[in-house]
Amino acid sequence: MKIRVLVTGSNGQLGKTIKDFSNDFTNTIDFVFLEKSKLDITNSKVVEHLFKEHNFDYCINCAAFTNVDLAETETQKALDVNAHAVKNLAVNCKQYNTTLIHVSTDYVFDGSKESPYLESDITNPINTYGESKLLGETYIREHLSNYFIIRTSWLYSKFNNNFVKTIFNKLKANEKLTIITSQKGTPSSCRDLSEFIFFIISKKNTSYGTYHFSATGETTWYGLALHISKYLNKSSNVKPIQNYPTKAQRPLYSVLNNKKVEQLYNKPLKKWKDSVDDVLEHLTKE
Ligand SMILES: NC(=O)c1ccc[n+]([C@@H]2O[C@H](COP(=O)([O-])OP(=O)(O)OC[C@H]3O[C@@H](n4cnc5c(N)ncnc54)[C@H](OP(=O)(O)O)[C@@H]3O)[C@@H](O)[C@H]2O)c1
Repeated sequence: MKIRVLVTGSNGQLGKTIKDFSNDFTNTIDFVFLEKSKLDITNSKVVEHLFKEHNFDYCINCAAFTNVDLAETETQKALDVNAHAVKNLAVNCKQYNTTLIHVSTDYVFDGSKESPYLESDITNPINTYGESKLLGETYIREHLSNYFIIRTSWLYSKFNNNFVKTIFNKLKANEKLTIITSQKGTPSSCRDLSEFIFFIISKKNTSYGTYHFSATGETTWYGLALHISKYLNKSSNVKPIQNYPTKAQRPLYSVLNNKKVEQLYNKPLKKWKDSVDDVLEHLTKE
């Protein structure tokens, strides 16, 4: 029998990447991809009905309120999507024996550490988005045992809008850019993350818990932009600036230690530059 998988928020960049990749798995997995207009995860009645109807083996929750600055003013909305709706997903997963694969964030940390964050490190979000995501995590742990909470950082892909695509397009239009050096993290590819998620599902892995998934290495937003500019032979277009005021505070350091994922996966994760190059190559061909 095929594995039944629900993917929520399927119009987001991670959702679209999983959908793109799912063609390789159609012999073994039946997917139900639902974007926000088809499934609003805050609508508990619809969620419950869906779980009852389909008897999913896995729910991959790609739905989230991801606008970090907007979350400061639309706090209730961020909490509804990133926390309360996640609790409801967890409750339904428990009731229908579905494994929840939930994506969380490096922004659950305050950035005061100076070495990569472990899964066991103390969380202390410094913005509303991080608080709402952390509450979502807490609800999952309270209500469910068969879950994977995968914290990731600085996600990008060939889909939708993200830092890598934005910088690539601006540089191609020959814009001059000033990019901050104050925050350190690791850009992570939706494609690489999707591969890890498919690994969990296809191996029917039961090593439930919290995992830090990111590429290997670290950089700043400036370092990432510079890498893209070098790829395009436009490095003189990118200049560093210490910081830039934003509504939400961001952790100055949010590198994730990905050793637990590497152990589960039994292979090293890719270097961030190699994964960025994969997307840059794709964007160049478009
Ligand atoms: N992007 C990053 O840098 C980053 C870093 C670390 C962790 N993460 C986490 O990674 C996950 C995937 O992020 P992403 O970059 O793919 O985000 P994304 O592109 O913003 O996708 C999120 C999707 O969820 C949808 N959504 C919002 N509210 C919803 C609701 N009530 N019901 C159903 N769908 C809803 C959004 O639709 P609308 O756009 O129409 O609202 C969007 O299509 C998220 O959990 C995020 O917190 C992201």
